[in-house]
Amino acid sequence: METISLAISSVADLMVRYKPCPTNPAGFAFLVHPRNISDIYRKYPLLRYLPKSFIKFMLAHFFWPVTVSYIQGVHNLNGQRNIPGWIISLPITAEQMIADRKLAKKFINKAVLLAQKRGARVIGLGALISPITNGGIDLKREHEVGFTTGNALTVGMTLKGITRVLALKNMRNEKLIFAVVGATGSIGQAVCQLLLRDRYTRHILAVGKTAAHLNELANKLSSAYKEVSISTFTDIKSVKNADIIIMATSSTEVLLSKDNLKNGVIIYDITQPQNVSLSLQEERKDVIVIDGGVVKLPENIKYNFNIGTPEGTTFACLAETMIVAAEGMEDFSLGKVRIEHVDKIMELAKRYNFQLAPLRSWGKIINEYDHKWNY
Ligand SMILES: NC(=O)c1ccc[n+]([C@@H]2O[C@H](COP(=O)([O-])OP(=O)(O)OC[C@H]3O[C@@H](n4cnc5c(N)ncnc54)[C@H](OP(=O)(O)O)[C@@H]3O)[C@@H](O)[C@H]2O)c1
Repeated sequence: METISLAISSVADLMVRYKPCPTNPAGFAFLVHPRNISDIYRKYPLLRYLPKSFIKFMLAHFFWPVTVSYIQGVHNLNGQRNIPGWIISLPITAEQMIADRKLAKKFINKAVLLAQKRGARVIGLGALISPITNGGIDLKREHEVGFTTGNALTVGMTLKGITRVLALKNMRNEKLIFAVVGATGSIGQAVCQLLLRDRYTRHILAVGKTAAHLNELANKLSSAYKEVSISTFTDIKSVKNADIIIMATSSTEVLLSKDNLKNGVIIYDITQPQNVSLSLQEERKDVIVIDGGVVKLPENIKYNFNIGTPEGTTFACLAETMIVAAEGMEDFSLGKVRIEHVDKIMELAKRYNFQLAPLRSWGKIINEYDHKWNY
């Protein structure tokens, strides 16, 4: 069924390319991509019988960005203006995007043009589309349309999620050690700032890939916040001393290993594709992995597409795009997330009734009665 609707929307996209839709001048679009080959199989089940390398070749050479969903129910605050939205998917997987950034950029540019022709005035950048375009800054140079990474709301909701976890476990205490993996990124650096500003901790283990970026971050944090300790690492094993680990890298690989985790550590994972594997959870029952970055939508908003979150919820980056469009803003969070943007989007999220989704671990709701909390 999904394959048939994809075929229909591909034809509709071709028509839009030749005859743009002038009746929707103030809509929005959200760009996504398959996280891995399993996402491709879900859409095109027959492809699972072909070799993976052949499928990847086909995706890169014979597929193009298509509209996979029409989003309904986004309105401005007084409900008078209906803002149409579309989810547009690139054909290639996260791994292919990282391996061939030139190809990824070619597809991203095509998707932006399709979004504009559909009538989008602002475009949100899902998953790795933001990291690959320098937080949308590269796109801004080439296209006359608004962009937002969706990262400001992701940061705000991450802090809200951490607050909820700490309250459930009754363990909020400035002495807790937080590790932020991907600490120098758009999301990671803002999470570090808020952890210190709002006094969740005084001690951060900042983990990243590039030592120079980590030094720059440590200097910035140490001069902005007093009496804090920022330790920097390029080795993932350093998370062993952390009570809470926030995963926020742009890597497509599984990074955490069962051997380098403190007993009972809480892992708050916002990465897409995920840097944490289910097998880690199976091998370390004491550890809790929280599905981060998920937002509960207001009831009237519907989109007919399985983006990978439970019914009635979506990723914070898509939710931010909806709010930005509803407010009639164009660009919002471009490049590295700024704290002022986090505060502003969280305030707007409250007014539009976008809430943090119930805490889940591997898709299952967890609460204070869950046995996992009582190790
Ligand atoms: N759940 C949601 O709603 C949501 C919303 C938006 C984004 N996301 C996800 O959040 C993640 C981060 O996005 P972003 O925009 O902040 O990306 P970003 O700005 O590109 O930052 C990525 C960070 O990861 C670091 N990194 C890359 N590979 C690494 C590795 N192997 N080990 C350690 N660190 C590594 C980079 O380090 P250097 O630059 O220093 O080399 C950088 O600090 C992505 O997975 C994205 O899909 C989720």
